[in-house]
Amino acid sequence: MRLPAQRRRAANGSVWLKYIVHDLTELLERARSDIAASGDLRSLDEVRVRLLGKKGAITEQLKAVGSLPVSERPAAGQAINRVKQELQSVLEGRRAELERARVEAQLGARSVDMTLPGRGQVSGGLHPVTRTLERLRTLFERAGFSVAEGPEIEDEFHNFEALNIPALHPARAEHDTFYLRNGTLLRTHTSPVQIRCLLEGKLPLRVIAPGRVYRRDSDVTHTPMFHQLEALAVDTDISFANLKAVLHGFLQAFFERELDLRFRPSYFPFTEPSAEVDMQCVICNGAGCRVCSRTGWLEILGCGMVHPNVLRICGVDPECCTGYAFGLGIDRLAMLRYGIDDLRLFFENDLRFLRQFN
Ligand code: FA5
Ligand code: MG
Repeated sequence: MRLPAQRRRAANGSVWLKYIVHDLTELLERARSDIAASGDLRSLDEVRVRLLGKKGAITEQLKAVGSLPVSERPAAGQAINRVKQELQSVLEGRRAELERARVEAQLGARSVDMTLPGRGQVSGGLHPVTRTLERLRTLFERAGFSVAEGPEIEDEFHNFEALNIPALHPARAEHDTFYLRNGTLLRTHTSPVQIRCLLEGKLPLRVIAPGRVYRRDSDVTHTPMFHQLEALAVDTDISFANLKAVLHGFLQAFFERELDLRFRPSYFPFTEPSAEVDMQCVICNGAGCRVCSRTGWLEILGCGMVHPNVLRICGVDPECCTGYAFGLGIDRLAMLRYGIDDLRLFFENDLRFLRQFN
């Protein structure tokens, strides 16, 4: 609001001040009603800009003070600044009012029921495969086995050669190996830990080696990563009867009931004789289902007497020592213990599935 030209030209200072005060009073009144009339924060801001913005009415008034006679400038400036402060506080009051109204409208629309109980924290639990692993470890430690470990990234010597599986042996193809660089690979079974233990040269041996293993394999009973538990006992007079007794005792303790087991003659290059052990399918109680491929039986482990070649490669004399070994699928056991009909569920991390085991 610039001062009209004829006023700017007037020489008498006190007349000036009268005009200014009159203008300001009018301006203040109009501004108050504009502010009160603005119904939301946006229109309130428009009013603020019109009054206090760079080209706003008050700013224009302040600029015009410079064209007043010097003696009148302080009083005029003070008068304008008083009005400016007044406007600022009226604007701030209205802004707070509108803000409060906005929040109330939002809360009203959402209607929060403060009497509902809180959601709280959900406590997690151990993965069913971890629980199974811990149970296996406890049972074997009780039977006098200690726990050994080996690397998941292995070399061909430990994973194959020392286990009597030379290059070009057909068993290598069955392992569906993931090969890495420089002749390393992801171990396809826990049997290489047998070699590492035997090479340490301390006999007699009674060890288990649980851990992750990897194969290019995927269906309801196979996943590309799964868990095995290897067991190895080497001493002066270990027989196949010992192996059968240990397996029977351990599996009954694990499932806490009488079990039907089937020792099926099989072949592993690193054991002789070899067998695979099947358990009656607990999903269908032997009637036949998709998990047991309609046979009523599910393979849970491979086993046998350690092959003399393996003992020899590791510096153990097969004439004075014998041993048994077995390798079981931990995930398979978890599946049977908990009645899960698809192995892949264990690795999908669906919380609805996992919470059932807490
Ligand atoms: C072996 O891996 C031998 N190293 C076992 C062994 C050890 C034999 C010591 C003799 C002496 P096999 O490939 O059959 O064998 O696997 C052993 C067990 O692992 C199977 O019985 C099964 O329970 C489990 N298994 C095998 N492949 C998978 C897979 N892709 N997903 C889940 N479990 C599997
Ligand atoms: Mg097998």
